[in-house]
Amino acid sequence: MLITTADAGTGCPRSTHVDCRRSGSGYLAYAPDVDSPWYEDLLVSPQATLEIDGRPHAARAVPLDGGDRGVALYLLEIDAARGRAIADQLLVHHGELRKALAAARAELDGVPIVGLPGLRRELLGHCVTFCNGLRMHHLREDGAFTAIEKAHPGLAPTLNRLREEHETVSHALLDLDELLQGKGELESAALREEFERVANGLEEHFAYEEANLLPALRATAHGRPERPLLSQLGNEP
Ligand SMILES: [Fe+2]
Ligand SMILES: [Fe+2]
Repeated sequence: MLITTADAGTGCPRSTHVDCRRSGSGYLAYAPDVDSPWYEDLLVSPQATLEIDGRPHAARAVPLDGGDRGVALYLLEIDAARGRAIADQLLVHHGELRKALAAARAELDGVPIVGLPGLRRELLGHCVTFCNGLRMHHLREDGAFTAIEKAHPGLAPTLNRLREEHETVSHALLDLDELLQGKGELESAALREEFERVANGLEEHFAYEEANLLPALRATAHGRPERPLLSQLGNEP
């Protein structure tokens, strides 16, 4: 099964084919090597995205007891408490991404318009942080959308639009990465143009997502007890 984790070092998505076996409604996955990177990632940040039958599924990893190097993977299911928690987390993470976007813009604004020799990735920390954070957020959302669609079939058209927008942003991020990691001199004007391509429409995407997903996530049945929840959409452990 293809498992995507957040690289414990960089925060970037890391996809790995891992042998899994079904266990109840979830899966068990064992690390074949002492230092399997995907396993180390999950010990730092337990959120994973599993590709099952070609669709992304959000899952939470819990290390196995008894000295086994492996995890139990629990698929996200939307109940009342979890729906509300995801709605709250989505707002928090959008706030963090909006701040990162503003910081990256401010950083780029400090770069002279003309090309600068030696302007490199390490000088553009905010930009890279924003891109990695956004990539991880969308990837985890795509996994969560599968569970949200199951709980709220009427949201299918909204979720399809959001998935398409994630795809568009993902292509723009790849182009931006190429610029940041290129070997030659980096043109600040070209970088700014690519960055704006990513940023343009993102605010609209966030606003559409918040306006159309949050009411449904918060309008689930009442009366179920709250229980401790792990973050499903963010980048923190
Ligand atoms: Fe989104
Ligand atoms: Fe989002």
